[in-house]
Amino acid sequence: MDLNKLIEKFEEIYGSGGEGIRAFQAPGRINLIGEHIDYNGGHVFPMALDMNNTIIARPNNSSFINMAVTSLPNRVSADIEKLESYKNLEWGNYQAGVAYMLKEAGYNIVGCDLLYHGEVPYGAGLSSSASIEVATAVCLASLGGAASLDMKEIAVLSQRAENEYVGMNCGIMDQFISALGEKDHALYLDCANLEYEKVPLELGEYTIVITNTNAAHKLTDSQYNTRRAECERALSIINENGGSYEYLCDIRIDELEKYEKYFNGDLSYKRARHCVTEETRVKAAVNVLKSGDLQSFGKLLNEANISMRDDYEATGQELDTVFDIALGIDGVVGSRMTGGGFGGCNISIVAKDKVEGFMKTMKEKYTKIIGYEPSFYFSDAGAGAGEIMIKEAKSN
Ligand code: GLA
Repeated sequence: MDLNKLIEKFEEIYGSGGEGIRAFQAPGRINLIGEHIDYNGGHVFPMALDMNNTIIARPNNSSFINMAVTSLPNRVSADIEKLESYKNLEWGNYQAGVAYMLKEAGYNIVGCDLLYHGEVPYGAGLSSSASIEVATAVCLASLGGAASLDMKEIAVLSQRAENEYVGMNCGIMDQFISALGEKDHALYLDCANLEYEKVPLELGEYTIVITNTNAAHKLTDSQYNTRRAECERALSIINENGGSYEYLCDIRIDELEKYEKYFNGDLSYKRARHCVTEETRVKAAVNVLKSGDLQSFGKLLNEANISMRDDYEATGQELDTVFDIALGIDGVVGSRMTGGGFGGCNISIVAKDKVEGFMKTMKEKYTKIIGYEPSFYFSDAGAGAGEIMIKEAKSN
C-alpha cells in the first residue's frame, strides 16, 4: 500500500484535518550467518530487507496511544499512565511494551493516533516483531520531541520490550539491524559490545532467494527460550569446572573439547559446539565475502545450516527439506536456514540466470514432500528505521 493510501485510511479511522501527520518505518531482516549466537556474545551478519513495517502517526492531545492496523479489525487504546497493563493483548502488546520501556528510560511519551501497516510476512522468521518494535520506538520517541535518536538505544529498548514485556528472550540482532541497517550492506555486529562494521553486499552474478517454508511454528518462543537456557547451562558447566568465560563464543573449539567430559552426555554440549564453531564460521564468511570469494562463502553457509540442524537442532523437517533440495539445484552456491528456526525461512545464494529454475524445482519437490507450497521473496539490503518524509512521498 502506498503512503498516500495509508494516510487516507488513517483519516478514515481517526478523522481528517489537523496538521502533524507523520510516517515512520522499520524493516525486517535476514541473517546471512551467525545464528543463535547473538545471546552468546558472538558475531552475527544480518542485512535489513526492503520490506518494512510502516506507522502513520499524529499526536492527539490525550493521554492515550490509539492503535489500529490495516490487516486486522483490532483496535487498542493504551493509557500512557497504565502502560504496564497491556501484556496480554492479542495485538498491540509489542507496541505497549515499547512505549513502557521508552517511558521507563525517560523518554517523553505523548498521546497519539497510530495506524500500522506491515509488509514483513508475519511469523516467517523475518523479524516482523522487531520491525514493529523498532518502528514504534522511533515513532513514539520522535512524537515526544526527541531531537536526534540514539539508534543503538532504540534497538536495546525494543529488545527489552520483547524480553521483559512480551516474554520472548531474544537476543539483540533483529532489533539492531532493523534500527541500524544500511542500504546495500550487511552489518558485521559484535553482540558482546554492539560495535559493528558495514560490509558491502556485492554478489555479482548471484542473488539471494528467500524461501519461506510456510510451516506453522507455534512453539517457536518456548523452544527458543529452551535453547537459550541450554546455552546458559553449558556455560555454567564449563565455568564450574575450571573455566572463566563470560560468553560461550569466547571459547575456542580445542578449549571446548577439554570440557566435554564434564557434560556427561548432556545435550547442552552440542549446543555449545554449535555456538563455538558458528563464531569461527561468521568471521571466515565475512572475510571471504570481502574478498569476493562467493564459493567459499556459500560453503560456510552450508556448514552453518548443518550445525543448526545437527548440533543446535533448531531446523525441523520443512527447513531440512528446503536445504536438501536447494543443494541439488544447479546454480546454488550455498544455502541455509535464517533466523530463529523451527520453520521460517531459508536463504539460498543462486546464480541470477538460474533463479527461475530454482523456484520451479523447489516448489515442485517441496510441495510433493511437505504437502503445501513454499513462498519466495527477493530483497536488496535495505536501510534501517527512520521517518519517511510525507511531502516527498506525496509529490512522487
Ligand atoms: C531470533 C532472535 C534473535 C536471534 C535469532 C537466531 O530471530 O530474535 O535474537 O537469536 O533468532 O540467530
